[in-house]
Amino acid sequence: MAAINVAILALAFLIMFPISSHVTALSSNYYEKTCPQLETAVTNAIKNAMSNDKTVPAALLRMHFHDCFIKGCDASVLLASKGQNTAEKDGPPNVSLHAFYVIDNAKKAVEAMCPGVVSCADILALAARDAVALSGGPTWDVPKGRKDGRISKASDTRQLPAPTFNISQLQQSFSQRGLSMEDLVALSGGHTLGFSHCSSFQNRIHNFNATHDLDPSMNPSFAASLRSVCPAHNKAKNAGATLDSSTAAFDNSYYKLLLQGKSLFSSDQALLTTPKTKTLVSKFAASQEAFEKAFVQSMIKMSSISEDLPLTPPSAVDSNFVAYFAPDFIKAGHDHLCVIGLAPKHVAFKDEGGITAVDFNVGKSDRSGFKVTGKRKKNAQHFESNTALCKVCTNSDSYIVRCCVKGSLLEVNDRLIKLPGLLNSSADREGYIAIIMPKPADWVKIKSSLLSLAEYKKLRDEAS
Ligand code: HEM
Ligand SMILES: *[C@@H]1O[C@H](CO)[C@@H](O)[C@H](O)[C@H]1NC(C)=O
Ligand SMILES: *[C@@H]1O[C@H](CO)[C@@H](O)[C@H](O)[C@H]1NC(C)=O
Ligand SMILES: *[C@@H]1O[C@H](CO)[C@@H](O)[C@H](O)[C@H]1NC(C)=O
Ligand SMILES: *[C@@H]1O[C@H](CO)[C@@H](O)[C@H](O)[C@H]1NC(C)=O
Repeated sequence: MAAINVAILALAFLIMFPISSHVTALSSNYYEKTCPQLETAVTNAIKNAMSNDKTVPAALLRMHFHDCFIKGCDASVLLASKGQNTAEKDGPPNVSLHAFYVIDNAKKAVEAMCPGVVSCADILALAARDAVALSGGPTWDVPKGRKDGRISKASDTRQLPAPTFNISQLQQSFSQRGLSMEDLVALSGGHTLGFSHCSSFQNRIHNFNATHDLDPSMNPSFAASLRSVCPAHNKAKNAGATLDSSTAAFDNSYYKLLLQGKSLFSSDQALLTTPKTKTLVSKFAASQEAFEKAFVQSMIKMSSISEDLPLTPPSAVDSNFVAYFAPDFIKAGHDHLCVIGLAPKHVAFKDEGGITAVDFNVGKSDRSGFKVTGKRKKNAQHFESNTALCKVCTNSDSYIVRCCVKGSLLEVNDRLIKLPGLLNSSADREGYIAIIMPKPADWVKIKSSLLSLAEYKKLRDEAS
Protein backbone atom coordinates (compact mmCIF):
# COMPACT_ATOMS: atom_id res chain seq x y z
CA MET A 1 0.00 0.00 0.00
CA ALA A 2 1.03 3.52 -0.70
CA ALA A 3 1.43 4.43 2.92
CA ILE A 4 4.47 2.23 3.35
CA ASN A 5 6.23 3.33 0.22
CA VAL A 6 7.70 6.38 1.70
CA ALA A 7 10.51 8.61 0.63
CA ILE A 8 12.32 10.89 2.97
CA LEU A 9 12.70 14.53 2.15
CA ALA A 10 14.65 17.12 3.92
CA LEU A 11 14.39 20.85 3.71
CA ALA A 12 17.44 22.97 4.16
CA PHE A 13 16.95 26.43 5.50
CA LEU A 14 20.62 27.18 5.28
CA ILE A 15 23.54 26.41 3.11
CA MET A 16 25.31 23.52 4.79
CA PHE A 17 27.99 24.53 7.23
CA PRO A 18 30.45 22.43 9.18
CA ILE A 19 29.11 20.91 12.37
CA SER A 20 30.40 22.98 15.23
CA SER A 21 32.59 21.20 17.69
CA HIS A 22 31.59 20.87 21.33
CA VAL A 23 35.15 21.23 22.46
CA THR A 24 35.89 24.78 23.45
CA ALA A 25 39.44 25.73 24.21
CA LEU A 26 39.86 27.20 27.67
CA SER A 27 42.41 29.85 28.49
CA SER A 28 43.85 31.47 31.60
CA ASN A 29 43.35 35.02 30.35
CA TYR A 30 39.85 34.50 28.99
CA TYR A 31 38.34 37.42 30.97
CA GLU A 32 41.48 39.55 31.10
CA LYS A 33 39.83 42.35 29.13
CA THR A 34 36.16 41.77 29.87
CA CYS A 35 36.28 41.13 33.61
CA PRO A 36 39.73 41.74 35.07
CA GLN A 37 38.53 41.75 38.72
CA LEU A 38 36.74 38.42 38.39
CA GLU A 39 39.07 36.28 40.45
CA THR A 40 39.34 38.76 43.33
CA ALA A 41 35.56 38.98 43.53
CA VAL A 42 35.15 35.21 43.64
CA THR A 43 37.89 34.78 46.24
CA ASN A 44 36.32 37.44 48.46
CA ALA A 45 32.92 35.77 48.28
CA ILE A 46 34.44 32.41 49.28
CA LYS A 47 36.45 34.00 52.13
CA ASN A 48 33.32 35.70 53.44
CA ALA A 49 31.32 32.50 53.44
CA MET A 50 34.16 30.51 55.02
CA SER A 51 34.42 32.90 57.91
CA ASN A 52 30.88 31.93 58.93
CA ASP A 53 30.87 28.28 57.93
CA LYS A 54 33.85 25.94 57.91
CA THR A 55 32.08 23.36 55.75
CA VAL A 56 31.96 25.65 52.72
CA PRO A 57 35.26 24.64 51.04
CA ALA A 58 34.41 20.92 51.05
CA ALA A 59 30.98 21.67 49.64
CA LEU A 60 32.41 23.77 46.81
CA LEU A 61 35.05 21.22 45.87
CA ARG A 62 32.48 18.44 45.73
CA MET A 63 30.03 20.61 43.81
CA HIS A 64 32.60 21.21 41.08
CA PHE A 65 33.38 17.48 40.90
CA HIS A 66 29.65 16.72 40.49
CA ASP A 67 29.24 19.38 37.89
CA CYS A 68 32.15 18.15 35.77
CA PHE A 69 31.21 14.47 35.97
CA ILE A 70 27.69 15.09 34.65
CA LYS A 71 27.68 16.42 31.08
CA GLY A 72 30.93 18.28 31.59
CA CYS A 73 31.66 21.38 33.68
CA ASP A 74 28.67 23.47 32.62
CA ALA A 75 27.18 24.63 35.94
CA SER A 76 24.15 22.41 35.36
CA VAL A 77 24.58 21.35 38.99
CA LEU A 78 23.38 24.84 39.96
CA LEU A 79 20.13 24.78 38.02
CA ALA A 80 16.96 24.56 40.05
CA SER A 81 14.23 22.00 39.54
CA LYS A 82 11.42 23.44 37.50
CA GLY A 83 7.90 22.16 36.90
CA GLN A 84 8.05 18.43 36.15
CA ASN A 85 11.82 18.40 35.84
CA THR A 86 13.85 17.46 38.90
CA ALA A 87 17.32 18.93 38.55
CA GLU A 88 20.71 17.37 39.33
CA LYS A 89 20.98 19.18 42.60
CA ASP A 90 17.88 17.38 43.82
CA GLY A 91 18.92 13.98 42.53
CA PRO A 92 19.67 11.04 44.81
CA PRO A 93 23.36 11.59 45.72
CA ASN A 94 22.56 15.19 46.62
CA VAL A 95 22.84 14.86 50.36
CA SER A 96 26.17 16.55 50.74
CA LEU A 97 25.66 19.18 48.09
CA HIS A 98 25.11 22.40 49.91
CA ALA A 99 26.43 25.95 50.04
CA PHE A 100 24.85 26.84 46.70
CA TYR A 101 24.29 30.29 48.20
CA VAL A 102 28.05 30.89 48.12
CA ILE A 103 28.10 30.57 44.34
CA ASP A 104 24.98 32.74 44.11
CA ASN A 105 26.75 35.46 46.09
CA ALA A 106 29.92 35.21 44.01
CA LYS A 107 27.83 35.39 40.84
CA LYS A 108 26.03 38.50 42.11
CA ALA A 109 29.32 40.23 42.88
CA VAL A 110 30.67 39.34 39.43
CA GLU A 111 27.49 40.43 37.64
CA ALA A 112 27.65 43.80 39.41
CA MET A 113 31.09 44.40 37.89
CA CYS A 114 30.78 42.78 34.47
CA PRO A 115 27.18 41.88 33.67
CA GLY A 116 26.51 38.97 31.35
CA VAL A 117 30.14 38.11 30.75
CA VAL A 118 31.26 35.34 33.06
CA SER A 119 29.79 31.83 33.03
CA CYS A 120 28.66 30.17 36.26
CA ALA A 121 30.71 27.13 35.29
CA ASP A 122 33.86 29.27 35.41
CA ILE A 123 32.84 30.72 38.78
CA LEU A 124 32.39 27.20 40.09
CA ALA A 125 35.84 26.14 38.85
CA LEU A 126 37.41 29.21 40.47
CA ALA A 127 35.48 28.60 43.69
CA ALA A 128 36.77 25.01 43.88
CA ARG A 129 40.34 26.23 43.38
CA ASP A 130 39.89 28.89 46.10
CA ALA A 131 38.33 26.33 48.43
CA VAL A 132 41.46 24.20 48.18
CA ALA A 133 43.89 27.11 48.44
CA LEU A 134 42.10 28.73 51.39
CA SER A 135 42.17 25.39 53.22
CA GLY A 136 45.95 25.31 53.09
CA GLY A 137 46.25 23.42 49.83
CA PRO A 138 47.97 24.37 46.58
CA THR A 139 46.74 27.05 44.21
CA TRP A 140 46.81 27.12 40.42
CA ASP A 141 45.80 29.06 37.37
CA VAL A 142 42.28 28.08 36.32
CA PRO A 143 41.72 27.93 32.55
CA LYS A 144 38.42 29.68 31.78
CA GLY A 145 35.87 30.02 29.00
CA ARG A 146 33.34 27.32 29.94
CA LYS A 147 29.81 27.67 28.66
CA ASP A 148 26.82 27.20 30.92
CA GLY A 149 24.40 24.41 30.08
CA ARG A 150 20.66 24.61 30.37
CA ILE A 151 19.83 20.99 30.99
CA SER A 152 19.89 19.45 34.42
CA LYS A 153 18.25 16.14 35.17
CA ALA A 154 18.19 14.41 38.53
CA SER A 155 18.37 11.02 36.81
CA ASP A 156 21.79 11.95 35.38
CA THR A 157 23.31 11.86 38.85
CA ARG A 158 23.27 8.09 38.43
CA GLN A 159 26.32 8.65 36.23
CA LEU A 160 28.36 9.65 39.27
CA PRO A 161 30.69 7.07 40.75
CA ALA A 162 29.15 5.51 43.86
CA PRO A 163 31.02 5.07 47.15
CA THR A 164 30.50 1.32 46.81
CA PHE A 165 32.38 1.13 43.49
CA ASN A 166 35.32 -1.26 43.12
CA ILE A 167 38.46 -0.35 41.23
CA SER A 168 37.25 -1.47 37.81
CA GLN A 169 34.03 0.51 38.14
CA LEU A 170 36.00 3.58 39.22
CA GLN A 171 38.41 3.16 36.36
CA GLN A 172 35.54 2.96 33.91
CA SER A 173 33.83 6.04 35.32
CA PHE A 174 37.02 8.08 35.13
CA SER A 175 38.23 6.84 31.77
CA GLN A 176 34.86 7.67 30.19
CA ARG A 177 35.72 11.25 31.06
CA GLY A 178 39.27 11.06 29.80
CA LEU A 179 40.73 10.67 33.28
CA SER A 180 43.43 8.13 34.15
CA MET A 181 44.13 5.95 37.18
CA GLU A 182 46.64 8.60 38.35
CA ASP A 183 43.85 11.17 38.15
CA LEU A 184 41.60 8.84 40.13
CA VAL A 185 44.10 8.46 42.94
CA ALA A 186 45.05 12.15 43.04
CA LEU A 187 41.47 13.44 42.89
CA SER A 188 40.29 11.03 45.56
CA GLY A 189 42.58 13.14 47.73
CA GLY A 190 39.71 15.64 47.68
CA HIS A 191 38.45 13.44 50.52
CA THR A 192 40.90 15.25 52.74
CA LEU A 193 38.12 17.80 53.19
CA GLY A 194 34.59 17.38 54.42
CA PHE A 195 32.02 15.09 55.84
CA SER A 196 30.00 12.04 54.89
CA HIS A 197 26.59 10.86 55.96
CA CYS A 198 26.21 7.33 57.34
CA SER A 199 24.42 6.06 54.24
CA SER A 200 27.54 6.48 52.11
CA PHE A 201 29.59 3.92 54.08
CA GLN A 202 26.77 1.84 55.60
CA ASN A 203 27.69 -1.07 53.31
CA ARG A 204 31.05 -1.48 55.07
CA ILE A 205 29.91 -1.47 58.69
CA HIS A 206 26.72 -3.54 58.67
CA ASN A 207 26.06 -6.75 56.72
CA PHE A 208 29.18 -6.34 54.63
CA ASN A 209 28.76 -9.78 53.11
CA ALA A 210 27.58 -13.29 53.99
CA THR A 211 30.61 -14.06 56.13
CA HIS A 212 31.57 -10.65 57.50
CA ASP A 213 29.42 -8.06 59.19
CA LEU A 214 32.27 -5.53 58.92
CA ASP A 215 34.51 -4.95 55.94
CA PRO A 216 37.63 -6.83 57.08
CA SER A 217 39.88 -4.37 55.28
CA MET A 218 38.88 -1.68 57.78
CA ASN A 219 40.82 -0.99 60.93
CA PRO A 220 38.63 -2.68 63.63
CA SER A 221 38.59 0.17 66.14
CA PHE A 222 37.91 2.67 63.36
CA ALA A 223 35.02 0.50 62.17
CA ALA A 224 33.69 0.24 65.72
CA SER A 225 33.69 4.01 66.13
CA LEU A 226 31.78 4.42 62.88
CA ARG A 227 29.21 1.86 64.00
CA SER A 228 28.66 3.79 67.19
CA VAL A 229 27.67 6.93 65.27
CA CYS A 230 25.88 5.00 62.53
CA PRO A 231 23.76 2.16 63.96
CA ALA A 232 22.19 -0.36 61.58
CA HIS A 233 18.91 1.48 61.31
CA ASN A 234 20.22 4.97 61.59
CA LYS A 235 17.49 7.57 61.94
CA ALA A 236 19.63 10.63 62.56
CA LYS A 237 19.61 12.50 59.27
CA ASN A 238 22.80 14.40 59.99
CA ALA A 239 24.80 11.55 61.48
CA GLY A 240 28.08 10.66 59.83
CA ALA A 241 31.80 11.11 59.99
CA THR A 242 34.49 13.43 58.70
CA LEU A 243 36.36 12.16 55.68
CA ASP A 244 39.72 12.44 57.39
CA SER A 245 40.92 13.50 60.81
CA SER A 246 41.94 17.01 59.76
CA THR A 247 38.72 17.75 57.97
CA ALA A 248 39.24 21.47 57.31
CA ALA A 249 42.88 21.20 56.24
CA PHE A 250 43.85 20.29 52.72
CA ASP A 251 46.72 17.88 53.40
CA ASN A 252 47.81 14.31 52.60
CA SER A 253 46.45 12.71 55.77
CA TYR A 254 43.70 11.06 53.70
CA TYR A 255 46.34 8.80 52.10
CA LYS A 256 48.07 8.08 55.41
CA LEU A 257 44.78 7.03 56.98
CA LEU A 258 43.82 5.02 53.90
CA LEU A 259 46.96 2.90 54.35
CA GLN A 260 45.88 2.25 57.96
CA GLY A 261 42.43 1.01 56.96
CA LYS A 262 40.81 4.26 58.08
CA SER A 263 39.01 5.43 54.98
CA LEU A 264 35.25 5.78 54.79
CA PHE A 265 34.21 4.47 51.40
CA SER A 266 34.72 1.20 49.58
CA SER A 267 35.81 3.41 46.67
CA ASP A 268 38.65 4.79 48.81
CA GLN A 269 39.70 1.33 49.95
CA ALA A 270 39.59 0.16 46.32
CA LEU A 271 42.62 2.33 45.56
CA LEU A 272 44.69 -0.24 47.46
CA THR A 273 43.54 -3.16 45.34
CA THR A 274 45.81 -2.73 42.34
CA PRO A 275 49.59 -2.43 42.58
CA LYS A 276 49.64 0.70 40.44
CA THR A 277 47.09 2.67 42.43
CA LYS A 278 48.47 1.39 45.73
CA THR A 279 51.94 2.66 44.81
CA LEU A 280 50.48 6.09 44.13
CA VAL A 281 48.64 6.09 47.46
CA SER A 282 51.92 5.32 49.22
CA LYS A 283 53.68 8.01 47.26
CA PHE A 284 51.12 10.66 48.19
CA ALA A 285 51.06 9.49 51.81
CA ALA A 286 54.82 9.99 51.94
CA SER A 287 54.93 13.34 50.20
CA GLN A 288 52.53 16.24 50.52
CA GLU A 289 54.40 17.90 47.68
CA ALA A 290 53.95 14.96 45.30
CA PHE A 291 50.24 14.88 46.18
CA GLU A 292 49.75 18.59 45.59
CA LYS A 293 51.51 18.50 42.25
CA ALA A 294 49.42 15.57 41.05
CA PHE A 295 46.21 17.02 42.46
CA VAL A 296 46.65 20.32 40.62
CA GLN A 297 47.33 18.56 37.32
CA SER A 298 44.32 16.32 37.69
CA MET A 299 42.03 19.15 38.81
CA ILE A 300 42.88 21.08 35.67
CA LYS A 301 42.03 17.99 33.65
CA MET A 302 38.80 17.34 35.50
CA SER A 303 37.71 20.94 35.25
CA SER A 304 38.12 20.88 31.47
CA ILE A 305 35.73 17.99 30.88
CA SER A 306 33.25 19.16 28.30
CA GLU A 307 29.97 17.71 27.21
CA ASP A 308 30.24 14.16 25.95
CA LEU A 309 30.40 13.97 22.22
CA PRO A 310 27.62 11.82 20.84
CA LEU A 311 28.83 8.39 19.68
CA THR A 312 28.10 9.27 16.09
CA PRO A 313 28.27 12.96 15.40
CA PRO A 314 25.06 14.25 13.85
CA SER A 315 25.19 14.19 10.06
CA ALA A 316 25.12 17.48 8.22
CA VAL A 317 21.57 16.59 7.34
CA ASP A 318 20.63 15.96 10.99
CA SER A 319 22.05 19.33 11.93
CA ASN A 320 20.69 21.46 9.17
CA PHE A 321 17.61 19.85 7.74
CA VAL A 322 14.11 19.00 8.81
CA ALA A 323 12.86 15.64 7.61
CA TYR A 324 9.53 15.33 5.85
CA PHE A 325 8.01 12.22 4.45
CA ALA A 326 6.01 11.68 1.33
CA PRO A 327 3.58 8.79 0.91
CA ASP A 328 4.96 6.95 -2.13
CA PHE A 329 4.92 10.01 -4.33
CA ILE A 330 2.82 13.05 -4.00
CA LYS A 331 0.79 14.99 -6.47
CA ALA A 332 1.98 18.50 -5.85
CA GLY A 333 5.55 20.55 -5.22
CA HIS A 334 14.40 29.11 -4.41
CA ASP A 335 16.69 28.46 -1.88
CA HIS A 336 15.23 25.44 -0.30
CA LEU A 337 16.95 22.19 -0.99
CA CYS A 338 15.34 18.82 -0.64
CA VAL A 339 17.41 15.74 -0.12
CA ILE A 340 15.62 12.65 -1.35
CA GLY A 341 16.31 9.25 0.12
CA LEU A 342 14.46 6.13 1.13
CA ALA A 343 12.73 5.99 4.48
CA PRO A 344 14.04 3.12 6.62
CA LYS A 345 10.72 1.26 6.38
CA HIS A 346 10.50 1.40 2.61
CA VAL A 347 9.11 -1.93 1.33
CA ALA A 348 12.16 -2.51 -0.86
CA PHE A 349 14.20 -3.19 2.26
CA LYS A 350 11.83 -5.98 3.23
CA ASP A 351 12.52 -8.10 0.16
CA GLU A 352 14.77 -11.06 0.72
CA GLY A 353 18.41 -10.00 0.24
CA GLY A 354 17.56 -6.31 0.42
CA ILE A 355 18.33 -3.81 -2.33
CA THR A 356 20.75 -5.20 -4.89
CA ALA A 357 20.96 -2.40 -7.43
CA VAL A 358 20.08 1.22 -8.09
CA ASP A 359 19.38 2.21 -11.65
CA PHE A 360 19.28 5.85 -12.69
CA ASN A 361 18.45 4.98 -16.27
CA VAL A 362 14.75 5.70 -16.05
CA GLY A 363 12.32 7.86 -17.94
CA LYS A 364 13.69 9.67 -20.93
CA SER A 365 17.24 9.96 -19.81
CA ASP A 366 19.95 8.47 -17.68
CA ARG A 367 20.23 10.60 -14.60
CA SER A 368 23.52 9.21 -13.36
CA GLY A 369 26.61 11.35 -13.52
CA PHE A 370 24.37 14.33 -13.36
CA LYS A 371 25.68 17.36 -11.56
CA VAL A 372 24.85 21.04 -11.76
CA THR A 373 27.32 23.69 -10.90
CA GLY A 374 27.37 27.46 -10.92
CA LYS A 375 25.13 30.10 -9.54
CA ARG A 376 22.47 29.96 -12.22
CA LYS A 377 21.96 26.21 -12.05
CA LYS A 378 22.44 26.01 -15.75
CA ASN A 379 21.92 22.36 -16.50
CA ALA A 380 19.23 21.87 -13.97
CA GLN A 381 16.49 19.57 -15.18
CA HIS A 382 13.01 20.51 -14.10
CA PHE A 383 11.02 17.69 -12.64
CA GLU A 384 7.50 17.15 -11.48
CA SER A 385 6.87 15.46 -8.16
CA ASN A 386 5.88 12.23 -9.87
CA THR A 387 8.84 12.13 -12.26
CA ALA A 388 10.85 8.94 -11.83
CA LEU A 389 14.22 9.57 -10.27
CA CYS A 390 15.63 6.07 -10.19
CA LYS A 391 14.72 2.45 -9.82
CA VAL A 392 15.78 0.36 -6.84
CA CYS A 393 15.98 -3.36 -7.48
CA THR A 394 15.77 -6.30 -5.19
CA ASN A 395 16.13 -9.97 -6.09
CA SER A 396 12.41 -10.31 -6.59
CA ASP A 397 11.14 -6.87 -7.56
CA SER A 398 11.92 -3.30 -8.49
CA TYR A 399 10.54 -0.02 -7.26
CA ILE A 400 10.44 3.40 -8.87
CA VAL A 401 11.52 6.23 -6.62
CA ARG A 402 9.93 9.51 -7.65
CA CYS A 403 11.11 13.05 -7.07
CA CYS A 404 8.40 13.79 -4.53
CA VAL A 405 8.83 17.51 -5.03
CA LYS A 406 8.51 19.67 -8.09
CA GLY A 407 11.78 21.42 -8.72
CA SER A 408 15.18 21.39 -10.34
CA LEU A 409 17.31 18.31 -9.99
CA LEU A 410 20.68 19.51 -8.79
CA GLU A 411 22.53 16.32 -8.12
CA VAL A 412 22.14 12.57 -8.03
CA ASN A 413 24.25 10.32 -5.85
CA ASP A 414 25.88 8.07 -8.42
CA ARG A 415 27.90 6.25 -5.75
CA LEU A 416 24.72 4.23 -5.24
CA ILE A 417 25.28 2.48 -8.56
CA LYS A 418 28.41 0.80 -7.22
CA LEU A 419 27.31 0.74 -3.61
CA PRO A 420 23.55 0.17 -3.42
CA GLY A 421 24.06 -0.94 0.21
CA LEU A 422 24.54 2.71 1.14
CA LEU A 423 20.80 3.16 0.73
CA ASN A 424 20.21 0.72 3.51
CA SER A 425 22.65 2.13 5.98
CA SER A 426 22.09 5.82 5.81
CA ALA A 427 19.30 7.47 3.89
CA ASP A 428 20.14 10.84 5.37
CA ARG A 429 23.89 10.55 4.93
CA GLU A 430 25.88 8.80 2.21
CA GLY A 431 22.75 7.00 1.08
CA TYR A 432 20.85 10.02 -0.25
CA ILE A 433 19.53 9.62 -3.76
CA ALA A 434 19.27 13.14 -5.10
CA ILE A 435 19.07 16.81 -4.26
CA ILE A 436 16.23 18.85 -5.63
CA MET A 437 15.58 22.55 -5.42
CA PRO A 438 11.93 23.60 -5.57
CA LYS A 439 10.80 27.16 -6.25
CA PRO A 440 9.86 28.96 -3.04
CA ALA A 441 6.23 29.31 -4.04
CA ASP A 442 6.03 25.62 -4.90
CA TRP A 443 7.67 24.72 -1.65
CA VAL A 444 4.99 26.46 0.38
CA LYS A 445 2.34 24.43 -1.42
CA ILE A 446 4.18 21.17 -1.26
CA LYS A 447 5.07 21.37 2.40
CA SER A 448 1.46 21.11 3.44
CA SER A 449 1.14 17.81 1.61
CA LEU A 450 4.12 16.21 3.34
CA LEU A 451 4.18 14.28 6.56
CA SER A 452 6.10 15.23 9.65
CA LEU A 453 8.22 12.61 11.38
CA ALA A 454 5.47 12.03 13.95
CA GLU A 455 2.82 11.60 11.26
CA TYR A 456 5.07 9.26 9.34
CA LYS A 457 5.66 7.10 12.40
CA LYS A 458 1.95 6.95 13.07
CA LEU A 459 1.22 5.89 9.52
CA ARG A 460 4.02 3.36 9.63
CA ASP A 461 2.73 1.84 12.85
CA GLU A 462 -0.77 1.62 11.42
CA ALA A 463 0.53 -0.03 8.27
CA SER A 464 2.61 -2.66 10.01
C1 HEM B 1 36.33 8.60 43.08
C2 HEM B 1 35.03 8.69 43.12
C3 HEM B 1 34.31 9.42 44.22
C4 HEM B 1 33.33 8.90 44.98
C5 HEM B 1 32.74 7.51 44.87
C6 HEM B 1 32.96 9.91 45.93
C7 HEM B 1 31.96 9.76 46.87
C8 HEM B 1 31.69 10.66 47.88
C9 HEM B 1 30.69 10.50 48.87
C10 HEM B 1 29.75 9.31 48.98
C11 HEM B 1 30.75 11.56 49.69
C12 HEM B 1 29.91 11.80 50.92
C13 HEM B 1 28.51 12.22 50.61
C14 HEM B 1 27.71 12.26 51.86
O1 HEM B 1 27.34 11.19 52.34
O2 HEM B 1 27.49 13.35 52.38
C15 HEM B 1 31.78 12.40 49.21
C16 HEM B 1 32.13 13.58 49.79
C17 HEM B 1 33.08 14.43 49.26
N1 HEM B 1 33.76 14.25 48.09
FE1 HEM B 1 33.81 12.61 46.97
N2 HEM B 1 33.70 11.01 45.73
C18 HEM B 1 34.56 10.76 44.68
C19 HEM B 1 35.46 11.63 44.13
C20 HEM B 1 35.64 12.91 44.58
C21 HEM B 1 36.43 13.89 43.89
C22 HEM B 1 37.12 13.69 42.55
C23 HEM B 1 36.41 15.02 44.65
C24 HEM B 1 37.06 16.34 44.38
C25 HEM B 1 38.23 16.48 43.86
C26 HEM B 1 35.61 14.73 45.81
C27 HEM B 1 35.39 15.59 46.86
C28 HEM B 1 34.57 15.33 47.93
C29 HEM B 1 34.42 16.25 49.06
C30 HEM B 1 35.18 17.54 49.26
C31 HEM B 1 33.47 15.68 49.89
C32 HEM B 1 32.93 16.25 51.18
C33 HEM B 1 31.72 17.10 50.88
C34 HEM B 1 31.18 17.87 52.05
O3 HEM B 1 31.68 17.73 53.16
O4 HEM B 1 30.26 18.64 51.83
N3 HEM B 1 35.14 13.45 45.73
N4 HEM B 1 32.34 11.84 48.09
C1 LIG C 1 17.87 15.83 47.93
O1 LIG C 1 16.92 15.34 47.04
C2 LIG C 1 15.70 14.97 47.63
C3 LIG C 1 14.82 14.39 46.54
O2 LIG C 1 15.52 13.40 45.83
C4 LIG C 1 15.07 16.20 48.27
O3 LIG C 1 13.86 15.82 48.92
C5 LIG C 1 16.05 16.82 49.28
O4 LIG C 1 15.52 18.03 49.78
C6 LIG C 1 17.38 17.09 48.61
N1 LIG C 1 18.34 17.54 49.62
C7 LIG C 1 19.07 18.64 49.48
C8 LIG C 1 20.04 18.93 50.59
O5 LIG C 1 18.96 19.38 48.52
C1 LIG D 1 33.57 -4.81 40.20
O1 LIG D 1 32.15 -4.87 40.22
C2 LIG D 1 31.57 -5.29 39.01
C3 LIG D 1 30.06 -5.14 39.13
O2 LIG D 1 29.59 -5.65 40.34
C4 LIG D 1 32.01 -6.73 38.70
O3 LIG D 1 31.45 -7.15 37.47
C5 LIG D 1 33.53 -6.74 38.62
O4 LIG D 1 33.98 -8.06 38.42
C6 LIG D 1 34.16 -6.17 39.88
N1 LIG D 1 35.59 -6.03 39.69
C7 LIG D 1 36.48 -6.31 40.63
C8 LIG D 1 37.91 -6.09 40.29
O5 LIG D 1 36.14 -6.71 41.72
C1 LIG E 1 33.48 -11.31 52.27
O1 LIG E 1 34.53 -10.38 52.05
C2 LIG E 1 35.82 -10.86 52.38
C3 LIG E 1 36.82 -9.74 52.21
O2 LIG E 1 36.64 -9.07 51.00
C4 LIG E 1 36.16 -12.06 51.51
O3 LIG E 1 37.44 -12.58 51.85
C5 LIG E 1 35.11 -13.12 51.67
O4 LIG E 1 35.34 -14.18 50.78
C6 LIG E 1 33.72 -12.55 51.40
N1 LIG E 1 32.71 -13.53 51.66
C7 LIG E 1 31.73 -13.81 50.78
C8 LIG E 1 30.77 -14.87 51.18
O5 LIG E 1 31.63 -13.21 49.71
C1 LIG F 1 19.72 -3.62 5.83
O1 LIG F 1 19.75 -3.24 7.19
C2 LIG F 1 18.98 -4.06 8.04
C3 LIG F 1 19.02 -3.46 9.42
O2 LIG F 1 20.28 -2.90 9.71
C4 LIG F 1 19.50 -5.50 8.00
O3 LIG F 1 18.69 -6.30 8.81
C5 LIG F 1 19.47 -5.98 6.57
O4 LIG F 1 20.05 -7.28 6.50
C6 LIG F 1 20.23 -5.04 5.66
N1 LIG F 1 20.09 -5.48 4.29
C7 LIG F 1 21.08 -5.43 3.43
C8 LIG F 1 20.80 -5.94 2.08
O5 LIG F 1 22.19 -5.00 3.72
